[in-house]
Amino acid sequence: MTSDPTKAPFGSVFGENLPISYYDGESWSDPVVVPIDSVTFGPATHALHYSSECFEGLKGHRQPDGTVKMFRPQKNITRLRNSTERLFLPKPPVELCESLFGLAVEHNAEVTPDPPGSLYVRPTIIGTEHNIGAAGRPSRTAAFYVITSPVGEYLPPHALRIVVETVHPRTTPQFGVVKSGANYAMALSPLLAAKRDWNADQVLFAPGGLIEETGAANFLLIDEGHVLTSALSEAFLHGVTRDSVLQVARSLGWKAEERDVSIDELREWAARPTGEMALAGTAAILGGVGELVLEGEIVTVGTGQTGPTTTMLRTMLTEIQQGLRPFTFR
Ligand SMILES: Cc1ncc(COP(=O)(O)O)c(C=O)c1O
Repeated sequence: MTSDPTKAPFGSVFGENLPISYYDGESWSDPVVVPIDSVTFGPATHALHYSSECFEGLKGHRQPDGTVKMFRPQKNITRLRNSTERLFLPKPPVELCESLFGLAVEHNAEVTPDPPGSLYVRPTIIGTEHNIGAAGRPSRTAAFYVITSPVGEYLPPHALRIVVETVHPRTTPQFGVVKSGANYAMALSPLLAAKRDWNADQVLFAPGGLIEETGAANFLLIDEGHVLTSALSEAFLHGVTRDSVLQVARSLGWKAEERDVSIDELREWAARPTGEMALAGTAAILGGVGELVLEGEIVTVGTGQTGPTTTMLRTMLTEIQQGLRPFTFR
Protein backbone atom coordinates (compact mmCIF):
# COMPACT_ATOMS: atom_id res chain seq x y z
CA MET A 1 0.00 0.00 0.00
CA THR A 2 1.94 3.03 -1.20
CA SER A 3 -0.40 6.03 -1.62
CA ASP A 4 -2.36 7.48 1.33
CA PRO A 5 -5.45 5.24 1.81
CA THR A 6 -7.30 7.96 3.71
CA LYS A 7 -7.48 9.98 0.47
CA ALA A 8 -9.00 7.10 -1.50
CA PRO A 9 -12.79 6.63 -1.81
CA PHE A 10 -14.23 4.87 1.30
CA GLY A 11 -13.78 1.11 1.09
CA SER A 12 -11.67 1.00 -2.07
CA VAL A 13 -8.30 0.12 -0.45
CA PHE A 14 -7.85 -3.18 1.39
CA GLY A 15 -5.67 -4.57 4.14
CA GLU A 16 -3.57 -7.36 2.64
CA ASN A 17 -4.16 -9.96 5.36
CA LEU A 18 -7.46 -11.82 5.33
CA PRO A 19 -8.49 -14.19 8.14
CA ILE A 20 -10.75 -16.96 6.84
CA SER A 21 -12.52 -20.10 8.03
CA TYR A 22 -14.39 -22.64 5.90
CA TYR A 23 -17.49 -24.63 6.81
CA ASP A 24 -17.44 -28.09 5.19
CA GLY A 25 -20.99 -29.11 6.00
CA GLU A 26 -20.19 -30.20 9.54
CA SER A 27 -17.76 -27.84 11.21
CA TRP A 28 -15.75 -24.69 10.78
CA SER A 29 -12.02 -24.97 10.06
CA ASP A 30 -9.45 -23.27 12.28
CA PRO A 31 -8.96 -19.69 11.08
CA VAL A 32 -5.97 -18.97 8.86
CA VAL A 33 -4.67 -15.61 7.66
CA VAL A 34 -4.02 -15.51 3.91
CA PRO A 35 -3.23 -12.78 1.36
CA ILE A 36 -6.51 -11.19 0.27
CA ASP A 37 -5.68 -11.75 -3.41
CA SER A 38 -5.23 -15.50 -2.91
CA VAL A 39 -8.91 -16.24 -2.20
CA THR A 40 -11.04 -17.35 -5.15
CA PHE A 41 -14.60 -18.62 -5.52
CA GLY A 42 -16.05 -20.21 -8.65
CA PRO A 43 -18.73 -18.67 -10.89
CA ALA A 44 -21.40 -21.13 -9.70
CA THR A 45 -20.90 -20.23 -6.01
CA HIS A 46 -24.29 -20.39 -4.22
CA ALA A 47 -24.01 -16.84 -2.83
CA LEU A 48 -23.56 -15.38 -6.31
CA HIS A 49 -26.83 -16.91 -7.51
CA TYR A 50 -29.10 -17.32 -4.52
CA SER A 51 -27.90 -14.48 -2.26
CA SER A 52 -26.76 -16.74 0.57
CA GLU A 53 -24.58 -14.01 2.01
CA CYS A 54 -24.48 -11.64 4.93
CA PHE A 55 -21.95 -9.19 6.24
CA GLU A 56 -21.12 -6.69 8.95
CA GLY A 57 -19.47 -3.29 9.16
CA LEU A 58 -17.57 -1.92 12.13
CA LYS A 59 -14.41 0.06 12.76
CA GLY A 60 -11.15 -0.39 14.61
CA HIS A 61 -9.79 2.85 16.11
CA ARG A 62 -6.25 3.58 17.16
CA GLN A 63 -6.18 4.30 20.91
CA PRO A 64 -3.90 6.71 22.77
CA ASP A 65 -1.61 3.74 23.70
CA GLY A 66 -1.17 2.86 20.01
CA THR A 67 -3.31 -0.30 19.99
CA VAL A 68 -6.27 -0.70 17.62
CA LYS A 69 -9.62 -1.36 19.30
CA MET A 70 -12.87 -2.31 17.61
CA PHE A 71 -15.97 -0.38 18.64
CA ARG A 72 -18.57 -2.66 20.30
CA PRO A 73 -17.76 -5.78 18.21
CA GLN A 74 -20.11 -7.98 20.27
CA LYS A 75 -23.05 -6.08 18.78
CA ASN A 76 -21.88 -6.92 15.27
CA ILE A 77 -21.26 -10.54 16.23
CA THR A 78 -24.84 -10.86 17.50
CA ARG A 79 -26.24 -9.20 14.37
CA LEU A 80 -24.11 -11.36 12.05
CA ARG A 81 -25.20 -14.56 13.78
CA ASN A 82 -28.86 -13.45 13.52
CA SER A 83 -28.38 -12.78 9.81
CA THR A 84 -27.02 -16.31 9.23
CA GLU A 85 -30.14 -17.78 10.83
CA ARG A 86 -32.47 -15.91 8.49
CA LEU A 87 -30.39 -16.97 5.46
CA PHE A 88 -29.97 -20.60 6.52
CA LEU A 89 -26.21 -20.21 6.55
CA PRO A 90 -24.22 -22.05 9.24
CA LYS A 91 -24.19 -19.95 12.42
CA PRO A 92 -20.59 -19.43 13.52
CA PRO A 93 -19.85 -19.79 17.25
CA VAL A 94 -19.19 -16.51 19.07
CA GLU A 95 -15.57 -17.61 19.74
CA LEU A 96 -14.94 -18.09 16.01
CA CYS A 97 -16.33 -14.61 15.31
CA GLU A 98 -14.11 -13.11 18.02
CA SER A 99 -11.09 -14.95 16.66
CA LEU A 100 -11.61 -13.87 13.02
CA PHE A 101 -12.47 -10.24 13.92
CA GLY A 102 -9.42 -10.11 16.22
CA LEU A 103 -7.05 -11.59 13.63
CA ALA A 104 -8.24 -9.06 11.06
CA VAL A 105 -7.34 -6.13 13.28
CA GLU A 106 -4.11 -7.68 14.57
CA HIS A 107 -2.79 -8.53 11.10
CA ASN A 108 -3.74 -5.19 9.57
CA ALA A 109 -2.90 -2.93 12.52
CA GLU A 110 0.14 -1.59 10.69
CA VAL A 111 -1.99 -0.05 7.93
CA THR A 112 -4.58 1.38 10.33
CA PRO A 113 -4.56 5.18 9.95
CA ASP A 114 -4.35 7.40 13.02
CA PRO A 115 -7.56 9.21 14.07
CA PRO A 116 -9.68 10.62 12.55
CA GLY A 117 -8.95 7.71 10.19
CA SER A 118 -9.67 4.11 11.20
CA LEU A 119 -9.71 0.51 10.00
CA TYR A 120 -13.09 -0.40 8.54
CA VAL A 121 -13.77 -4.09 9.24
CA ARG A 122 -16.10 -6.10 7.00
CA PRO A 123 -16.86 -9.63 8.27
CA THR A 124 -18.56 -11.65 5.51
CA ILE A 125 -20.20 -15.08 5.36
CA ILE A 126 -21.13 -16.65 2.03
CA GLY A 127 -22.62 -19.93 0.87
CA THR A 128 -19.86 -21.52 -1.21
CA GLU A 129 -21.46 -24.64 -2.63
CA HIS A 130 -20.61 -24.76 -6.33
CA ASN A 131 -23.99 -25.73 -7.66
CA ILE A 132 -26.46 -23.71 -9.72
CA GLY A 133 -29.15 -26.31 -9.09
CA ALA A 134 -29.47 -25.44 -5.42
CA ALA A 135 -32.07 -22.66 -5.67
CA GLY A 136 -34.48 -24.38 -3.35
CA ARG A 137 -32.14 -25.24 -0.53
CA PRO A 138 -29.36 -23.70 1.54
CA SER A 139 -25.70 -23.96 0.58
CA ARG A 140 -24.08 -26.98 2.23
CA THR A 141 -20.73 -25.22 2.59
CA ALA A 142 -19.69 -21.71 3.53
CA ALA A 143 -16.76 -19.35 4.01
CA PHE A 144 -16.38 -16.74 6.74
CA TYR A 145 -13.73 -14.09 6.17
CA VAL A 146 -12.99 -10.57 7.40
CA ILE A 147 -11.98 -7.87 4.93
CA THR A 148 -10.31 -4.73 6.26
CA SER A 149 -10.06 -1.31 4.67
CA PRO A 150 -8.02 1.63 6.01
CA VAL A 151 -10.28 4.68 5.77
CA GLY A 152 -10.13 8.40 6.41
CA GLU A 153 -12.76 10.38 8.26
CA TYR A 154 -16.06 10.05 6.42
CA LEU A 155 -18.03 13.25 6.68
CA PRO A 156 -20.72 14.22 4.19
CA PRO A 157 -19.52 17.43 2.42
CA HIS A 158 -22.85 19.16 3.06
CA ALA A 159 -26.07 18.77 5.04
CA LEU A 160 -27.94 15.95 3.31
CA ARG A 161 -31.04 16.11 1.16
CA ILE A 162 -33.28 13.11 1.85
CA VAL A 163 -36.28 11.96 -0.17
CA VAL A 164 -39.00 10.46 2.04
CA GLU A 165 -40.56 7.37 0.41
CA THR A 166 -43.99 6.83 1.93
CA VAL A 167 -45.20 3.90 -0.18
CA HIS A 168 -42.48 1.32 -0.81
CA PRO A 169 -40.35 -0.32 1.90
CA ARG A 170 -36.58 -0.65 1.57
CA THR A 171 -36.90 -4.43 1.49
CA THR A 172 -39.38 -7.07 2.61
CA PRO A 173 -40.57 -6.46 6.20
CA GLN A 174 -39.05 -9.65 7.66
CA PHE A 175 -35.66 -9.07 6.02
CA GLY A 176 -34.91 -5.50 7.03
CA VAL A 177 -33.20 -6.72 10.17
CA VAL A 178 -30.78 -8.87 8.11
CA LYS A 179 -27.57 -7.35 6.74
CA SER A 180 -27.53 -9.03 3.35
CA GLY A 181 -26.60 -7.76 -0.11
CA ALA A 182 -30.02 -8.32 -1.66
CA ASN A 183 -31.50 -5.63 0.62
CA TYR A 184 -29.12 -3.06 -0.83
CA ALA A 185 -29.91 -4.16 -4.39
CA MET A 186 -33.64 -3.72 -3.71
CA ALA A 187 -33.12 -0.16 -2.43
CA LEU A 188 -31.21 0.91 -5.55
CA SER A 189 -34.20 1.79 -7.71
CA PRO A 190 -35.72 4.39 -5.32
CA LEU A 191 -32.24 5.66 -4.43
CA LEU A 192 -31.25 6.26 -8.05
CA ALA A 193 -34.62 7.89 -8.75
CA ALA A 194 -34.14 10.23 -5.75
CA LYS A 195 -30.68 11.20 -7.00
CA ARG A 196 -31.92 11.75 -10.55
CA ASP A 197 -35.18 13.58 -9.76
CA TRP A 198 -34.17 15.55 -6.66
CA ASN A 199 -30.38 15.55 -6.60
CA ALA A 200 -30.86 13.88 -3.23
CA ASP A 201 -28.28 11.99 -1.16
CA GLN A 202 -30.46 9.23 0.28
CA VAL A 203 -33.98 7.89 0.70
CA LEU A 204 -35.80 7.61 4.03
CA PHE A 205 -38.17 4.67 3.85
CA ALA A 206 -41.45 5.32 5.64
CA PRO A 207 -43.95 2.84 4.18
CA GLY A 208 -47.48 3.62 5.29
CA GLY A 209 -46.27 6.94 6.72
CA LEU A 210 -44.16 5.48 9.55
CA ILE A 211 -40.41 6.04 9.50
CA GLU A 212 -38.08 3.03 9.30
CA GLU A 213 -34.55 3.83 8.06
CA THR A 214 -32.59 5.11 5.07
CA GLY A 215 -30.85 2.97 2.45
CA ALA A 216 -27.68 2.59 4.53
CA ALA A 217 -28.25 4.19 7.94
CA ASN A 218 -30.77 4.64 10.74
CA PHE A 219 -32.61 7.92 11.18
CA LEU A 220 -32.66 10.18 14.23
CA LEU A 221 -34.63 13.30 15.10
CA ILE A 222 -32.58 15.50 17.38
CA ASP A 223 -33.28 18.64 19.39
CA GLU A 224 -31.69 20.29 22.41
CA GLY A 225 -31.60 17.56 25.08
CA HIS A 226 -33.78 15.21 23.04
CA VAL A 227 -33.24 12.30 20.62
CA LEU A 228 -36.16 10.50 18.98
CA THR A 229 -35.99 7.44 16.73
CA SER A 230 -38.23 4.64 15.56
CA ALA A 231 -38.62 1.68 17.93
CA LEU A 232 -36.77 -1.44 16.77
CA SER A 233 -38.70 -3.83 14.54
CA GLU A 234 -37.90 -6.66 12.12
CA ALA A 235 -38.30 -4.20 9.26
CA PHE A 236 -35.01 -2.36 9.66
CA LEU A 237 -31.42 -2.87 10.72
CA HIS A 238 -30.63 -2.52 14.43
CA GLY A 239 -27.73 -0.10 14.09
CA VAL A 240 -24.88 -0.02 16.59
CA THR A 241 -24.52 3.74 16.06
CA ARG A 242 -28.23 4.33 16.76
CA ASP A 243 -27.96 2.36 19.99
CA SER A 244 -24.74 4.12 21.01
CA VAL A 245 -26.18 7.61 20.43
CA LEU A 246 -29.24 6.72 22.52
CA GLN A 247 -27.02 5.50 25.35
CA VAL A 248 -24.81 8.60 25.23
CA ALA A 249 -27.90 10.85 25.19
CA ARG A 250 -29.37 9.02 28.20
CA SER A 251 -26.08 9.33 30.09
CA LEU A 252 -26.36 13.10 29.64
CA GLY A 253 -29.82 13.03 31.20
CA TRP A 254 -31.50 13.75 27.85
CA LYS A 255 -34.84 12.42 26.71
CA ALA A 256 -34.10 9.52 24.35
CA GLU A 257 -37.26 8.07 22.85
CA GLU A 258 -37.83 4.92 20.78
CA ARG A 259 -41.36 4.80 19.37
CA ASP A 260 -43.36 5.17 16.16
CA VAL A 261 -42.50 8.35 14.25
CA SER A 262 -44.97 9.55 11.62
CA ILE A 263 -44.53 11.78 8.60
CA ASP A 264 -46.63 14.46 10.33
CA GLU A 265 -44.22 14.47 13.26
CA LEU A 266 -41.29 14.69 10.84
CA ARG A 267 -42.82 17.78 9.27
CA GLU A 268 -43.47 19.35 12.67
CA TRP A 269 -39.89 18.62 13.83
CA ALA A 270 -38.41 20.12 10.64
CA ALA A 271 -40.33 23.36 11.31
CA ARG A 272 -38.75 23.85 14.75
CA PRO A 273 -35.90 26.40 14.69
CA THR A 274 -33.83 23.98 16.80
CA GLY A 275 -35.07 20.85 14.98
CA GLU A 276 -32.30 18.59 13.69
CA MET A 277 -32.22 15.25 11.90
CA ALA A 278 -29.34 12.89 11.20
CA LEU A 279 -28.44 9.61 9.55
CA ALA A 280 -26.70 7.27 11.99
CA GLY A 281 -24.27 4.59 10.81
CA THR A 282 -20.75 3.27 11.22
CA ALA A 283 -19.25 5.05 8.20
CA ALA A 284 -20.16 8.68 9.02
CA ILE A 285 -21.38 8.21 12.63
CA LEU A 286 -23.90 11.05 12.26
CA GLY A 287 -24.64 12.85 8.99
CA GLY A 288 -26.76 15.98 9.42
CA VAL A 289 -29.90 16.37 7.29
CA GLY A 290 -30.56 19.83 5.79
CA GLU A 291 -33.61 19.14 3.65
CA LEU A 292 -36.36 16.58 3.21
CA VAL A 293 -38.31 15.98 0.03
CA LEU A 294 -41.74 15.26 1.49
CA GLU A 295 -44.71 14.53 -0.75
CA GLY A 296 -43.00 16.24 -3.69
CA GLU A 297 -41.95 19.40 -1.82
CA ILE A 298 -38.60 20.45 -0.41
CA VAL A 299 -38.84 21.07 3.34
CA THR A 300 -35.93 22.70 5.19
CA VAL A 301 -34.94 21.00 8.44
CA GLY A 302 -34.31 23.60 11.19
CA THR A 303 -31.64 25.96 9.86
CA GLY A 304 -30.88 23.75 6.85
CA GLN A 305 -27.40 23.00 8.23
CA THR A 306 -26.00 20.20 10.35
CA GLY A 307 -27.15 21.25 13.82
CA PRO A 308 -25.06 21.90 16.94
CA THR A 309 -26.61 19.02 18.94
CA THR A 310 -25.86 16.57 16.12
CA THR A 311 -22.27 17.82 15.98
CA MET A 312 -21.90 17.53 19.74
CA LEU A 313 -23.18 13.94 19.81
CA ARG A 314 -20.92 13.02 16.90
CA THR A 315 -17.88 14.50 18.64
CA MET A 316 -18.68 12.67 21.87
CA LEU A 317 -19.08 9.33 20.13
CA THR A 318 -15.87 9.84 18.17
CA GLU A 319 -13.98 10.57 21.37
CA ILE A 320 -15.39 7.44 23.01
CA GLN A 321 -14.36 5.34 19.99
CA GLN A 322 -10.86 6.78 19.99
CA GLY A 323 -10.39 6.10 23.71
CA LEU A 324 -10.34 9.79 24.60
CA ARG A 325 -13.54 9.74 26.66
CA PRO A 326 -14.42 6.90 29.04
CA PHE A 327 -17.85 5.36 28.55
CA THR A 328 -19.34 1.97 29.41
CA PHE A 329 -22.02 0.74 27.04
CA ARG A 330 -24.65 -1.66 28.32
C1 LIG B 1 -29.48 -0.32 6.09
C2 LIG B 1 -28.64 0.12 7.23
N1 LIG B 1 -29.26 0.61 8.32
C3 LIG B 1 -28.55 1.02 9.39
C4 LIG B 1 -27.17 0.97 9.39
C5 LIG B 1 -26.44 1.47 10.59
O1 LIG B 1 -25.87 0.41 11.31
P1 LIG B 1 -24.55 0.63 12.18
O2 LIG B 1 -24.78 1.79 13.03
O3 LIG B 1 -24.41 -0.64 12.93
O4 LIG B 1 -23.45 0.85 11.20
C6 LIG B 1 -26.51 0.46 8.26
C7 LIG B 1 -25.07 0.33 8.17
O5 LIG B 1 -24.18 0.79 8.49
C8 LIG B 1 -27.25 0.03 7.16
O6 LIG B 1 -26.66 -0.44 6.08
